[in-house]
Amino acid sequence: PVYAHVDRAACIACGLCQMLAPKLFEYDQEGIASYCPDENTGTVPLTGEQLIDFKLAYRRCPTGAIQRSEQPFTQA
Ligand code: F3S
Repeated sequence: PVYAHVDRAACIACGLCQMLAPKLFEYDQEGIASYCPDENTGTVPLTGEQLIDFKLAYRRCPTGAIQRSEQPFTQA
């Protein structure tokens, strides 16, 4: 399985991820992204369909703020 999470401290609000994967990313008022299907908790595995879009954004994020893991992310 693949889990997704945005390191919001590393996001520079570039806007690419939502352009590439509009169903997966949303922005707060400052434009900082979060992974919306699981409210950025990184605890719900992506479906195959989500993974296709996710990979586009994951590869293109300029700061590496979009993270992926084969294990659920633990809450800080
Ligand atoms: Fe932020 Fe990267 Fe998206 S910088 S807006 S998480 S593409």
